[in-house]
Amino acid sequence: MSQPQKGICAEPNLHAQYLQYNIIDEDEQAIRAKLARILDIFDHFDDEHYEAMVSGVIAVGCDYFSELYPGLRPVELSPFPDMHCDDRVAPSQTTDLFIQIRADRQDIVHAISTEVHELLRIHVELVEDIKGFRYLDGRDLTGYLDADDNPRGLAKKTTAVIADNDPDFAGGSYVHAQRYRHDMRRWNLLSQRHQEQIMGRSREHHLVSPEENANSHYVRSRVTDLSNPQAQHQLLRQSMPYADMREQGLFFVSHCQSSAPFKSMLHSMIFGTTVGEYDAFLDYSNAETGGAYFAPSIDFIKRRAQS
Ligand code: HEM
Repeated sequence: MSQPQKGICAEPNLHAQYLQYNIIDEDEQAIRAKLARILDIFDHFDDEHYEAMVSGVIAVGCDYFSELYPGLRPVELSPFPDMHCDDRVAPSQTTDLFIQIRADRQDIVHAISTEVHELLRIHVELVEDIKGFRYLDGRDLTGYLDADDNPRGLAKKTTAVIADNDPDFAGGSYVHAQRYRHDMRRWNLLSQRHQEQIMGRSREHHLVSPEENANSHYVRSRVTDLSNPQAQHQLLRQSMPYADMREQGLFFVSHCQSSAPFKSMLHSMIFGTTVGEYDAFLDYSNAETGGAYFAPSIDFIKRRAQS
């Protein structure tokens, strides 16, 4: 199987940096070569600091993909779904490149980000630079365990990575990224019972709430695969909190072998299935960015570095 990029199925890390760039020149050949060099930078730091569990993902934006790699295109790579209903929005702002750098040491994340940025600097405009961190044993800033129900073991790869039966894009992954900004003051004014109803989970033990609430995040994010009604859609979520004293939230990242599950889940969160339904957590958190990307396999990036 073509090797997927290491950060796609990586175990959670303590630190992350998310870099989003737009390309400002037309030197695609240089960018193809530099993306392969970024993979070497990840490997170099991983070898030198194996205890830091370095991992990275390079993902190419939906619009830029065909410019960077003309000819071939992942069939499901399509624009970020720009959805809005009442005051719930999912703005679309796909950049040309999305680079996720993660490790268990903040200094290593910084060192890698600096090398990546220096390498790309003359070709790009930096659109977003967000630092993520692990919070209280894997909780979102709201206090609730995040990604506890992520696929595990072999299911990680089958969920997140395109299988060998696609000869062009095996080892690749559809990536969706959104920066959510939480209104922590309003969230913290809610009673724990009310918060648990919204999340659909208990805060302490992460148990599914016995009171089924159609507007809970739990119910709204469990969406059935229309082509196989017995099966629930699956995503591999690799999100992390970010915060300073002005803004706090979740940098949401999902990986999948198809772009459909993310879109169906987001649709269910924003529109629900019947009138009045939506994900009540969106009353306390707004997506401020959103992008649709494709993370090609390592072999794909390296093979095309010379062309
Ligand atoms: C504001 C941003 C978000 C926050 C704070 C958040 C938080 C959470 C939390 C605390 C859980 C329960 C624990 C677990 O991960 O299993 C969860 C579950 C989940 N979330 Fe989110 N989430 C956010 C956005 C999203 C988005 C945008 C999607 C997909 C479009 C999504 C999909 C899911 C899925 C599939 C589950 C697992 C549900 C299950 O138990 O089967 N989440 N989320």
